Amino acid sequence: MKPFHILCLSSLLALAACSDNDVEEVFLPAISTESDSDNDSGTVVTASGYDEAYRPQFHYSPVQNWINDPNGLVYLDGTYHMFYQYNPYSADWGNMSWGHATSTDLIHWEEKAVALTPDALGDVFSGCCVIDKNNTAGFGANAMIAIYTANGDHQQQALAYSTDGGNTFERYANNPIIPNTDRSDFRDPKVFWHEATQRWIMALACGYEYKIEFWSSTNLKSWQKLSDFSSPIAACNLGQWECPDLISLDYNGSTVWVLIVSVNPGGPNGGSGTMYFVGDFDGTTFTADSGSYPKWIDYGPDNYAGVTWSNLPNDRKVLIGWMNNWNYAGVSPVSPWRSAMTLPRELSLVEFDGELCLSSKVVSEIDNIAGEWDTVENGADFPSVGPCQMQATIPVAESSTLILSNDKGEQLELEINPTAGLLLAKRNSTTGETSFSSSFSLPSVKSLLNCNGDEIELNIYIDQSSVEILSSTGLTVSTLTVYPSKTYHRATSSASSSTLRHRSLSSIWN
Ligand code: FRU
Repeated sequence: MKPFHILCLSSLLALAACSDNDVEEVFLPAISTESDSDNDSGTVVTASGYDEAYRPQFHYSPVQNWINDPNGLVYLDGTYHMFYQYNPYSADWGNMSWGHATSTDLIHWEEKAVALTPDALGDVFSGCCVIDKNNTAGFGANAMIAIYTANGDHQQQALAYSTDGGNTFERYANNPIIPNTDRSDFRDPKVFWHEATQRWIMALACGYEYKIEFWSSTNLKSWQKLSDFSSPIAACNLGQWECPDLISLDYNGSTVWVLIVSVNPGGPNGGSGTMYFVGDFDGTTFTADSGSYPKWIDYGPDNYAGVTWSNLPNDRKVLIGWMNNWNYAGVSPVSPWRSAMTLPRELSLVEFDGELCLSSKVVSEIDNIAGEWDTVENGADFPSVGPCQMQATIPVAESSTLILSNDKGEQLELEINPTAGLLLAKRNSTTGETSFSSSFSLPSVKSLLNCNGDEIELNIYIDQSSVEILSSTGLTVSTLTVYPSKTYHRATSSASSSTLRHRSLSSIWN
C-alpha cells in the first residue's frame, strides 16, 4: 500500500473519532494552553513562546499541530496570506483542514484561526486562492476564492469564498465544481487568470497517471477540460505527481512558461522532490522545451509541494515549500508542532549550459531581520550564536569541504566537488538527532554545482532545525532539516582560500 493511502486511512479513522470537526465556523485558537510541568501549582500557561527545542526562529511553524503543503498563497491589500494543510487536533497527519497565517513582509507571520475544516464532501486537501477582481464568480469584486480538493469517497474540486479578506470562508452551495467518481488521485488545483484568452486556467495533478491536466473557466464555477501534460521522465517511475503550478516569467522581454510539479517518491535525494519544466503555454496546452529533465527546484530532501503566491505586486513569483519529506515527516522529533515552511524564494529564469533554468533566491525582505555583515575567521565561532545567514565564497578549481559545527561535537559537512560538478551535504548521525527514522540519515545529499566561474558563493541560512543552501546564482539549492542540540555556530573551510561572512537573523516571533 502506498504511504498516501495509509495516511488517508488514518485520516478517516481520526475523523470518525472526532464528532465536532465538521463545524464550518469553529474557531480553533492559534494559542494552545498546556500544563507547565515546571510549575508545581499546575498553573495553565500559554505555549506560544516559540522556544522549544528545534523550534524554527525565522521560518513559519504553527504554535502546535501538524502542517504540510502551503495552500491558497495569495496577496490582498498589503497582506500576504498563507493557508496550509493543517490538522487542528494533533501533530500527526489527519483531519485535513486549512490553517492560516498572514504577513506584511513574507518573513514575520501571525497565526490566524483555522480557515476551512472538513465538510460532507471530505477533508480539505491542497489548493489555491485567487482574487476575483472582476467578480467573474458573482461573489463580489475582489472576493478571495479558494479552490481546493475535497477528499471524501473521491477527490473532487470544490470552492469556498471569503468577502472579508480571508478571515472567514463560505462554501459554494453547488460544490463540487469538478466532480469525480472514479479516479483515485485527482487533486491540488492551482488557478490563474490567463490574460490572452480572458479566462481562468487550472492545473490539476493526476497522481499515478503521471500527468497534469489543464482546465478552463470564465466564472471559477464551471470548468472544461483543455489538455494533458506528461513527460517521458514519468517512465523513470518518479512517483505520484502532485501540487502543480503553471507560472509565466519574463526572460529578456519574452514570456516563458514554467510548470512546477511535486513528485513523491522519486525526489533527487529520495522521497519527496519538486521538479519543473520550462516551455510554452498557448492558452490550452503546455509544451515543454527539449532539454535535460528532470530539473529540480531544490536538490535537498526538504522542500516539497512548493507553489507561488498569486496576485503579487509587480508580478513577482515567490515560492514557499513545506520543509519536510514524506519519508520521515510523520516522526520528525519536534513537539507540540510538526513541520515548518521553507524561507520564501523569488523565482527567475537564468540561462545555464544553453538551457533556461529556474533560479531561486531568498526574498530580499529577509534583510528586515538581518544584522550587519561580519567577516569571520575560518573555524572561529560566529560573533553571535543563534539563527543566522552565512556566506561562503569558495574557489572551485579544487575540491574542498565546508563544515558547519557547534561546540557539542555536531556538524554538517558540505563537500564541494567540482570534478563531479556536485555539492554534497552529509546529513549523517554527526549532524545531531537522526535516530527517529532510518531514512533520515543521508550519507551524501547531491546537488548540481551549476557553476561556471572560478568560485561559488553560497548563502547558507542556519536555523535551529534547518539549513538552506542557495548559491548566489540561485542555481544550486539544497534545503535540509537537521536536529543538532545547539544551532551550528562556526564554519570551517578546507579550501586554500575562502571568504566567510556572517550576519545574525533575529527571531520572527519576538
Ligand atoms: C502533497 C499532498 C497533496 C494533498 C495533500 C494532503 O504533500 O499529498 O497532494 O492534497 O498533501 O495533505
